Amino acid sequence: MQSRLITFLKSRFNRANRLYATPDPWHLETPREQFRFAETNRLIAEHIGEHFASILEVGCGEGHQTQYLEQLANKVYGVDISARAISRATRRCPQSKFSEGDIFTFHFTEPSASKFDLVTAFEVLHYLSDDSLASTLEKMCELGAACMVSYVEKHRPHVDPHIRKIPGIQTASLSFTDTRYVKWEVAWWKN
Ligand SMILES: C[S@@+](CC[C@H](N)C(=O)[O-])C[C@H]1O[C@@H](n2cnc3c(N)ncnc32)[C@H](O)[C@@H]1O
Repeated sequence: MQSRLITFLKSRFNRANRLYATPDPWHLETPREQFRFAETNRLIAEHIGEHFASILEVGCGEGHQTQYLEQLANKVYGVDISARAISRATRRCPQSKFSEGDIFTFHFTEPSASKFDLVTAFEVLHYLSDDSLASTLEKMCELGAACMVSYVEKHRPHVDPHIRKIPGIQTASLSFTDTRYVKWEVAWWKN
């Protein structure tokens, strides 16, 4: 049983690494994505807090959004299942702390406070099956005093039913038009 689990996790980690064969597969340096990062910071500052001791960023990728989250925290901790992404994130944001893993396999020994002030999962949840999505949200609630997630509008049918079950949820939409119109859903809550 355990060897099947290890094989399953290895295949997910390898798949994530293949996506990062070339840098920036999601075009996160474009004005569209930089807009999303800046607007997400604005929502955090307006609704959750202007500055934190610690933020945990689940699915941090190569650290593009970490650069923005660093403006809001003494320390950002990033976790991603791609080793390649983690190595680039470490170069991009040397003052943050990155680890290869996912929210379940990674063993959090920091921060020393019992919870992170904020746990984020931006553009990650839609990768997860219904079961994993539900348990990821539960784990985020355990780890964070507050949480924020975002996802592109087309993923609403998959992600919304899970998000709407969370007590005290608040939401906003962000939209941007360049060569195409993109709309993101953002949701946050305090635990
Ligand atoms: C579309 S990118 C988003 C990157 C960044 N968070 C953003 O908003 O631009 C999704 C990231 O989630 C990571 N990822 C997918 N499933 C994951 C999991 N179960 N645990 C941690 N990271 C995961 C991928 O490797 C990838 O770096």
